[in-house]
Amino acid sequence: MPESFDISTSSGCYRVSTGRGLLTEALRAREDVVILTDAYFSGILPTGIGKVIAVPALEGSKSLEQIAPIIAKLRELGAHRRTHLLALGGGVIQDIATFVASIYMRGIAWTYFPTTLLSMVDSCVGGKSSINVYSYKNLVGNFYPPAEVMIDLDFLRSLNAEQIVGGLCEAAKICYARSSHEYDLYLAESPAIKMSALQAERIIVRSIKAKQWFIEIDEFDKKERLLLNFGHTFGHAIESATEFRITHGVAVGVGMVVAHEYAKQRGFLTATGSECVLQLTTHIEQLLRELPPLAEELRRLDIDVFMEKFDNDKKHHADQYRIVIPKGDGSLELVSIARTEEGRSAIKAAFRAAIHRLADPTLIKNYLAIK
Ligand SMILES: NC(=O)c1ccc[n+]([C@@H]2O[C@H](COP(=O)([O-])OP(=O)(O)OC[C@H]3O[C@@H](n4cnc5c(N)ncnc54)[C@H](O)[C@@H]3O)[C@@H](O)[C@H]2O)c1
Repeated sequence: MPESFDISTSSGCYRVSTGRGLLTEALRAREDVVILTDAYFSGILPTGIGKVIAVPALEGSKSLEQIAPIIAKLRELGAHRRTHLLALGGGVIQDIATFVASIYMRGIAWTYFPTTLLSMVDSCVGGKSSINVYSYKNLVGNFYPPAEVMIDLDFLRSLNAEQIVGGLCEAAKICYARSSHEYDLYLAESPAIKMSALQAERIIVRSIKAKQWFIEIDEFDKKERLLLNFGHTFGHAIESATEFRITHGVAVGVGMVVAHEYAKQRGFLTATGSECVLQLTTHIEQLLRELPPLAEELRRLDIDVFMEKFDNDKKHHADQYRIVIPKGDGSLELVSIARTEEGRSAIKAAFRAAIHRLADPTLIKNYLAIK
């Protein structure tokens, strides 16, 4: 069922629509557009559609150094203040498009077509850009919402298991952060690697509407929206420590398991009353175990490299680590941990315990055997 609803921001509203064939329609309807696309789609865009900038969807592409050539290309293509940028791709292209649209000639309008499940359930709304600087992930960025978001479900057909798992980890996190009721409704859609387009659409709409509450109440990431960083500080360190072989959504899933371990080991979860978070972690672990190569990647992960990346996260304060952890009552909390040897040991202990569980080959084999 196609859906359409508005998201409010301090600079106006933008419409989010779901459906099929939306890209073809939009390409027919618009004049004076430049298409910024994931290079993956270069071959399937209709011939003769005009001005196209194709960028590979790699972490290296969403870096400050790679922004200048895209800006120069826009200029060469004759883009001016009234040109509309049409962005097509997953989170990498969204980060680039948000940033480029916000600074090209001090800001041009843009429309976003998310093409991965992760970008459909999460990054397509919120208007945030996150750009890497050398090895520092998401170090710079800004807020610049699109004029419109069009979620074309036809893009889901070519996604692989890893891309679906990554998207579901983010959707589960957002719904869980919103409320236990919202999370129950998410689970009731039976999220899994194999889903119908209708099931996926319902999860996408549920996740965006859950995120809507956070981005409308705290557009600029000062308070409530920070809870959506659940799993991210560990996740970013895992992505970076594996040179992005573990992809963003999957790393966030692993990060949520680490955060659960930390909360358990440090007494934030009482023996009773932690069923909610247990249910969440079980779901995430089941999704992650659908990706056998992940276990090998986690086993090879060097904890010192992980710690170095964790230390560098921009969300920490000078004397405190800042992470979001689950509490026994089903809520999430942003906590501070002293940047001392004891603090570091506690982080490492949680990381080791989570990796031990996720990388256990017998668990993976057993799980796959009963499928
Ligand atoms: N700014 C935000 O609010 C925000 C939120 C979440 C994530 N992110 C960022 O998004 C990035 C991750 O994005 P992502 O997981 O959406 O993917 P991505 O953009 O990194 O793409 C991952 C892979 O999927 C391919 N792909 C894209 N669409 C496809 C399709 N329909 N079929 C087959 N393959 C397809 C790409 O070519 C690429 O190889 C990270 O850099 C993360 O930091 C940003």
